[in-house]
Amino acid sequence: MNILSVASEVYPLVKTGGLADVVGALPAALLPHGIKMRTLVPGYPAVLHKLKKKKAVGRIDNLFGHPATVLSAEINGLDLLVLDQPALYARDGGPYLDPTGRDYPDNFRRFAALSLAAAEIAGDNVIPGWKPDIVHVHDWQTALTPVYMRFGSAPNTPTVMTIHNIAFQGQFGASVFPELALPPEAFSMQFVEYYGDVGFLKGGLQTATAITTVSPSYAQEILTPEFGMGMDRLLASRVDSLIGIVNGIDADTWNPETDPHIASHYGPGTLKRRAGNRKALEERFGLDSSPGPIFCVISRLTWQKGMDLLAEVTDDIVTLGGKLVILGSGDAALEGALLAAASRHRGHIGVVTGYDEPLSHLMQAGADAIIIPSRFEPCGLTQLYGLRYGCVPIVARTGGLTDTVIDANEAALSAKVATGFQFRPVTAEGLRLAIRRAFRAYSEPKVWARMQNQGMKSDVSWAKSAERYVSLYSGLLAKG
Ligand code: ADP
Ligand code: GLC
Repeated sequence: MNILSVASEVYPLVKTGGLADVVGALPAALLPHGIKMRTLVPGYPAVLHKLKKKKAVGRIDNLFGHPATVLSAEINGLDLLVLDQPALYARDGGPYLDPTGRDYPDNFRRFAALSLAAAEIAGDNVIPGWKPDIVHVHDWQTALTPVYMRFGSAPNTPTVMTIHNIAFQGQFGASVFPELALPPEAFSMQFVEYYGDVGFLKGGLQTATAITTVSPSYAQEILTPEFGMGMDRLLASRVDSLIGIVNGIDADTWNPETDPHIASHYGPGTLKRRAGNRKALEERFGLDSSPGPIFCVISRLTWQKGMDLLAEVTDDIVTLGGKLVILGSGDAALEGALLAAASRHRGHIGVVTGYDEPLSHLMQAGADAIIIPSRFEPCGLTQLYGLRYGCVPIVARTGGLTDTVIDANEAALSAKVATGFQFRPVTAEGLRLAIRRAFRAYSEPKVWARMQNQGMKSDVSWAKSAERYVSLYSGLLAKG
């Protein structure tokens, strides 16, 4: 089976969050099932520079007024297709934001073009001799693909639309519609019209053959007004086509026995060797070497991630005898609040702002616990990395965090299955209580080590979820 996956980021070439990790890991997880997934991404400079051998395999003569080339390349076993169109993608800055942190004003066009190119590839005239049996798109940036397919090149090819985060919907003023090269009837409730605007995600959710999201709990939550962010009724109308499949992790990139970014390798039987990473972490963040648990946070600094709640409990962590290391970037006010906590508690709290992939590995390997106080979390990957690294997750009970961490309540502790701490309500007080529970467990080394080991044993691989995608894809083809 051939599948075209379409996304705006992919690890290890361009990453702003978990989407890249998932898009980068899924093809290898599917390969043992006989599924060949090719991944189409935009030709940002970061992508073009990192790919050594690339070959032109297709051409689109007119992509919103410019010709575009489809390149093929391989990296880490990923079979990539790159949409090379310098007018849209050759920019300084990130995939979505210019160097000053503002959205590119033509993002609607940049990602409509990616979607239109994907739809053309799904027809049979762009890459000679190759076309997908199914097209799988991710988030709003690629959500117009099924709409373009429906009206154009491949109306009968099944499509899967995965929601990684419903908070980002790609909503633009109606004035962009004439530029999208869609027929007038597409500007209607059944397609992209959304309260008088153009909604990319909305169009994808209306049109895709199947909809998935990245955990079973989030699949339930987005059917409610609280979490659906305006899409709950649309999703309710498509509930028979909606499923939640939890993300896995790339177990080669995230393996404490071989990880090149950590100071001391270890595994389930050799947890004592984590001490070398703890020391490296203390040095890196300028912490003293006092005993007590080290908590870490690796996150976008946003309201979604509950970083304001974290800012409220920093003093408590230090008072209770713990230390805290934070790696993140985002909201300037949140950054300021966390930096202020670090200057109040020199030697006990350290903050690195920015994006640092290697450091994120060392933190999972050297800290005792990872705090994830998200207000909503479709899946979350850092708790999965935490489980694999013996860095016990303390998580809000929401979305994928609910599905992947087993709370250390009395029943779970006596059954010896606990892997972390969950809390609800998602408030500073809720988080404070969870942190207190973690301190109590940490004071009993046997209990703590058991939780670490239990976490390291939990299956965070792609194996089961890959099977779920396989049965989804097979079902779509059988119906087709
Ligand atoms: P989201 O995609 O919503 O940001 P996830 O938990 O799914 O949340 O994925 C976040 C990914 O980004 C993880 O791989 C995490 O390690 C990484 N990450 C987040 N912030 C940073 C940072 N400042 N530096 C390095 N990696 C980060
Ligand atoms: C989104 C979500 C996150 C999820 C990731 C990968 O960024 O916020 O919860 O893990 O996508 O699916």
